[in-house]
Amino acid sequence: MEINVKTLNGSYGITLERGALLKVGELLNLDRRVLIVTDDGVPKEYALAVAKQCKTPVIITLPQGEATKNTESWLTLHKTMVENNFTRSDCVVAVGGGVVGDLSGFAAATYMRGIDFYNIPTTVLSQVDSSIGGKTAVDFMGYKNLVGAFYPPKAVVIDPYVIRTLPQRQIVNGLCEALKMAATCDKELFEIFKNTSEFDLDVIEQIIHCSLLIKKAVVEQDERESGLRKVLNFGHTLAHAIESVNGMDKYYHGECVAIGMLPMCSQKVREELETVLLKLGLQVSLQEDAEKLIDACRHDKKMSGDKITVVTVPEIGKFQMKDITFSEFSDMIRSVALK
Ligand code: GLY
Repeated sequence: MEINVKTLNGSYGITLERGALLKVGELLNLDRRVLIVTDDGVPKEYALAVAKQCKTPVIITLPQGEATKNTESWLTLHKTMVENNFTRSDCVVAVGGGVVGDLSGFAAATYMRGIDFYNIPTTVLSQVDSSIGGKTAVDFMGYKNLVGAFYPPKAVVIDPYVIRTLPQRQIVNGLCEALKMAATCDKELFEIFKNTSEFDLDVIEQIIHCSLLIKKAVVEQDERESGLRKVLNFGHTLAHAIESVNGMDKYYHGECVAIGMLPMCSQKVREELETVLLKLGLQVSLQEDAEKLIDACRHDKKMSGDKITVVTVPEIGKFQMKDITFSEFSDMIRSVALK
């Protein structure tokens, strides 16, 4: 299945196909020097399968985790390219999740003012969300994604077979971002979540496909996030606060988004969402002190004066962007506190 995404300067294709990893040589131009970036949490065979299809591959394996998404890793990628005589006509390929994709994309964006970048996302989270839309970045001085660029990939290749090696918790992590898109933009996708008892490969592939179509529609209208794209931040204000209070390792991002969505919904939507979250084995109330989280939200970049911009969901498949006072926002957060 091929999806084309229009960008401000052109377009790129997303291939969604079982076994695609074994034919990337046909899908991408790998007949050159190729920096393959992966991490030690990704099965080695994936990067090796890509390398086999490249003319001159160089594999770099970074430590798994958010801590890798920093300026030192970014410089390491640049140094590796210089040491291996990479020129403007060579390319970078990410084989991994969001950290690998964001970092590699930013290294490609900045090497010699921009060389080709291909993304082969290997987690559900990166397949449904972060590999699409051209956001690349590294974290800097404690701030997530502070240094980065909008730099769309030349192509994205999604092989649903890679999901088979993911732990269940990682799969659910990615499904939460898809659920976010369903709740805000796609009633039919939400129905899939509601009516599915076993999230097998067929269902997950269908969810990935629907999510890609939603994300395509959003980023084609607002690549630079000046308006509509902010809908993808649904649930993320509280999610980022949970991450900053607990550090990046205790919870997965999707788990934080899952609970972050709840206070932003009407009572009816909240009940429907809770049913799906419980089915996926997720929490539906905060384990942390709500006041600590509220305090962490004060520094959110969506704050302006005493107001904060939030995405709310009055009914499944519909969203609103609202400026509310911080006091109203705080009460919403308190509503998911453990009683
Ligand atoms: N993950 C949110 C976005 O791509 O805008």
